[in-house]
Amino acid sequence: MSARILQGEVGIEEAVTTLAAGGLVALPTETVYGLAALAQDARACARIFEAKARPLSDPLIVHVPGPEWLERLADPDPLTRLLAETFWPGPLTLISPKKPCVPDLCTAGEPTVALRMSAHPLFLETLSRLNEPVAAPSANRFGRISPTSAQHVFDELGAKIPMILDGGPCVHGIESTIVQTREGVIHILRQGPVTRSQLEPFGKVSSQPTGASAPGTLKSHYAPQTPLRLIPRDEEAPRHAKGVRVGLLAWRNARPGFDAVEVLSAQGDPVMAATVLYGAMRRLDARGLDAIWAETPPASELGDAILDRLRKAAASQ
Ligand code: TXA
Ligand code: MG
Repeated sequence: MSARILQGEVGIEEAVTTLAAGGLVALPTETVYGLAALAQDARACARIFEAKARPLSDPLIVHVPGPEWLERLADPDPLTRLLAETFWPGPLTLISPKKPCVPDLCTAGEPTVALRMSAHPLFLETLSRLNEPVAAPSANRFGRISPTSAQHVFDELGAKIPMILDGGPCVHGIESTIVQTREGVIHILRQGPVTRSQLEPFGKVSSQPTGASAPGTLKSHYAPQTPLRLIPRDEEAPRHAKGVRVGLLAWRNARPGFDAVEVLSAQGDPVMAATVLYGAMRRLDARGLDAIWAETPPASELGDAILDRLRKAAASQ
């Protein structure tokens, strides 16, 4: 199999037909590309795990066609409902107790389900015609870098899925913020484009896990094949041995002494950096380097979300 990359109306129609038949389609979202299949069809969900080589213990995010699905699929508390009203469609994933119509396979046996409504116009149009929720984790092989373009998806999964709906580059470039509420407290399980200060008007915000298992917080994830290590942004880069080929993920221009440099944002703008982060990691990874050094981001909320990804990429080696 070799995935077809389709665009526009033709792509949407093909995506709807393929999904309705229980097949897999990679779809663009505003965060990263997702690998979608019917959420309420356990066999379709199983194909996602198979294509990604994802452990069955890692639950899938379910993407809904509209906010009314929050209560069709889950039992959200009032605060979760308010967050959905405020941030959907958008890059916020909400965890609530699941209803029986969500297959256990989809939630990896968890009693909860992660729900999100994407704001991407092609995603929304596909789901509104399908009129069904889809499970859609990031469209990469398990543990690898999330894709932010149709070509990235093709490079990851082109041999395993029939089609990719091309919506151009993703606006945010990093995965959605995941939260779970408990007794009026909003627990951030994964940092992302919706920041702590955006959540604070709605309740106390905690970055501590809820105590319930949080599979989304694996220590190692988002990894290039090349070993990656973090270095402080403001210090002189440490020297590396002669003959060792090192690439740099940089926050400023003109860093001599490296075999390849990808500048995330010379202005230190984390929004810009997030949109290019995974593409830059992929390009460095393709250079056959011995190591990638990543400068730490400037301190900011989105900067911290980027740092979280870089730490996880570094932890996998
Ligand atoms: O932006 C995103 O969220 C993208 C796009 C495609 O929507 N999706 C995404 O999915 O990043 P994925 O599967 O790569 O990451 C979702 C994370 C996983 O690490 C999973 O363990 C966690 O969410 N998760 C899913 N259901 C959960 C649950 N019931 N409780 C705790 N964590 C959960
Ligand atoms: Mg992922």
